[in-house]
Amino acid sequence: MPVPQPGIFALGTLAHSYVELDLADGASGADLVREVADLAEPRTTMGGVNLVTGFRPEVWFGPMPAGTRGFTEPVAGPDGFTMPATQHDAALWVAGGSYDVVFDAVIGMLAALEGVAVLAHEVVGWTYHRDRDLTGFIDGTENHSVLVSPHEVLVPDGARGAGGSVLLLQQWTHEARAWTGLPTERQERVMGRTKPDSIELEDKPEGSHVARTDQDEFGRIFRRNTPYGTVSDHGTMFVGFAADQGPLARMLDSMAGVGGVRDDLTRYSTPLTGGYYFVPSVEDLSASGRTR
Ligand code: HEM
Repeated sequence: MPVPQPGIFALGTLAHSYVELDLADGASGADLVREVADLAEPRTTMGGVNLVTGFRPEVWFGPMPAGTRGFTEPVAGPDGFTMPATQHDAALWVAGGSYDVVFDAVIGMLAALEGVAVLAHEVVGWTYHRDRDLTGFIDGTENHSVLVSPHEVLVPDGARGAGGSVLLLQQWTHEARAWTGLPTERQERVMGRTKPDSIELEDKPEGSHVARTDQDEFGRIFRRNTPYGTVSDHGTMFVGFAADQGPLARMLDSMAGVGGVRDDLTRYSTPLTGGYYFVPSVEDLSASGRTR
């Protein structure tokens, strides 16, 4: 198996930056891929960061699973609920032990990409009470371990783009007042899990979030969500990886209510962005660079 970009599975980082880039005027997709593939990041234990780079499938010229496509059409549910399509050309996810090193690394990377890429969207992610998102629930419980997940969410050996993964990056703002106004028991029925300890409800409602995204039905993904934002404007950066686009796309349809009921979580949280990126293996990324 080719080596995956290790940051996908590097749990435990406290500070995050999600940067989406568009092609600069006059630059080609191939220029962008080459320059991003050549990005260098600091490598000491505490000064170092994990860099995960992904490309709009239409821009990435290396191997990837057939049919991988950008998020170019909104996901629309039958009742008018819509998830916007805000695809950009590349994404950088930089994670580290503290935000100073992440900040410096991202500034350095953007400087290195000047002339081929412009900053289109930027979100700073942080951690809240260890593993909780800003709904107050533990997020990531159903992830399989980092020993198992690579076998589930990376393109398998022998397939096009082996060792790569499809990333869905989606910023969700929380309707904090409506959410915090719900009693805990109602919140638990929206999520389908208990709030203190994330135990799945035996009688979880059909519209609960975990019922609408059940991986036994839609396929395995690996989630690295983080909270983002301020007291007055905050939410969840959804960061999900899958071996092909299918599970992620089917989950979004299901959450929007396509072919079933709408996810109750979407009544308290609204997607602001949505982009798919192919995250190539280290070998495929290196083979695309200028200097390696
Ligand atoms: C505001 C946005 C979101 C929030 C706050 C959120 C939060 C949560 C929480 C608290 C859980 C339960 C614990 C766990 O297993 O992690 C969960 C489960 C899950 N979520 Fe989300 N989520 C969000 C968006 C999404 C999106 C967009 C997707 C898919 C594209 C998704 C996919 C999943 C999956 C697959 C599970 C596990 C389901 C299972 O039990 O198999 N989530 N989420």
